[in-house]
Amino acid sequence: MNFRDTLYVNENGKLIIGGVQASVLAKQFGTPLYVLDKKHVENMCDVFIKTLSKEYPKSLVCYASKAFSCKEIYRIINSKKLGIDVVSNGELYTAKSVDFPMNKAIFHGNNKTANELITAVTNGVKYVVLDSYYEVDLLEEICVERGIKQNVLIRVNPGIEAHTHHYIQTAKQDSKFGFSISNGDALEFIKYVLTKKNVNIEGLHCHIGSQIFEEKSYVICVEKMTDFYKLLKQELSLTLPTINLGGGFGIWYNDEDKKTTLEDYANFVKIIAKTLKENVKAKGLTQPFLILEPGRSIIGEAGITLYTVGATKTIKDLKNYIAIDGGMFDNPRFALYQAKYTVALCDKANLEPVKKYTVAGKCCESGDVIAEDCMLPEVNSGDILAVFSTGAYNYSMASNYNRNLVPPVVMVEKGKAKYIVKPQSLDDLIRNDV
Ligand SMILES: Cc1ncc(COP(=O)(O)O)c(C=O)c1O
Repeated sequence: MNFRDTLYVNENGKLIIGGVQASVLAKQFGTPLYVLDKKHVENMCDVFIKTLSKEYPKSLVCYASKAFSCKEIYRIINSKKLGIDVVSNGELYTAKSVDFPMNKAIFHGNNKTANELITAVTNGVKYVVLDSYYEVDLLEEICVERGIKQNVLIRVNPGIEAHTHHYIQTAKQDSKFGFSISNGDALEFIKYVLTKKNVNIEGLHCHIGSQIFEEKSYVICVEKMTDFYKLLKQELSLTLPTINLGGGFGIWYNDEDKKTTLEDYANFVKIIAKTLKENVKAKGLTQPFLILEPGRSIIGEAGITLYTVGATKTIKDLKNYIAIDGGMFDNPRFALYQAKYTVALCDKANLEPVKKYTVAGKCCESGDVIAEDCMLPEVNSGDILAVFSTGAYNYSMASNYNRNLVPPVVMVEKGKAKYIVKPQSLDDLIRNDV
């Protein structure tokens, strides 16, 4: 486990999060239940914003709200002085509902609808990130009609694919996101955008991957991006005042991952800031405003999900299954891409693991698994099981598959717990049915 002062096992073998016993939360709020540790979210915001403002003051950290979006998270993000990135009208609407300053919001997406572009422009978002010719034509039309000039970033593909401990430099052009720098697509697109009167290019944006632990990935990314800024200056006499390097900082899910600490994230930020300053100087560029967009790293490890074990099933000489009262409707990541998780029994967390289990969800889908080959103490029906590092891309990817209810979210802090997302009801499920 990647324990910390707000997530640990006490001397009686009970899992504690935010000062509350996890099994007590399960009893009080029911299962399945998403639990978020507020202090950890705040610490993560602090480490990004404080390190970046010290190392590179001309900057903004934007929380990538696709990782987890609800009113309370936007309140916390705002209180910590971060901006946000949003990818839909729904995320923007949620942020706006708690008065999140729209001049600190960036609107992304590879196929924003006309309606989304209108929402973005009329709400005064800081940047729209352009990802297609179709979109820039649409945006220009929307802006001309309203007499608005919209600042934009251009999504480019710098030719680095980074994931976990590996990165590769590629000239790979097959991505639904961004314009390739290496084959000239990005340059052509920029020339086209420059012909638009009501769209103003402020800078470039890239996002090179997810679950990145290798600092070198960001170093190469900065080198390639600044090379391109230099080329734009030479070829088009274009000086872009902003650079957005996306997110992707890795978190601990299981023991194949690094047990990251706050210092590790500070280190990422320091290296990016240092590399950017050096490259800007060496290439004779004007120092740009720097944006980073961490999502998973801010919210991922802050979250755990609690389930009650129901059926257990042993297939002789093959497998021990334990079935939980949740599954791919609250966490589709295993079903989507075999994401690995660590699990524990909340009240038996100090007992010796004795058996290998596969944790199955309750959906009618054989791929509905949450974790495979987990060594645990003897598991009995009724035990409360915790899955760690579920804060990111779980609640935000949840669905009502099989007409299961999306679990509520409880926030814990200093021994107290409160709903930040209330439970869905069966009536919610049929509310829009005709
Ligand atoms: C454009 C952009 N920015 C930021 C992020 C956040 O990435 P992560 O949650 O890995 O930090 C993503 C994730 O897909 C993204 O697409």
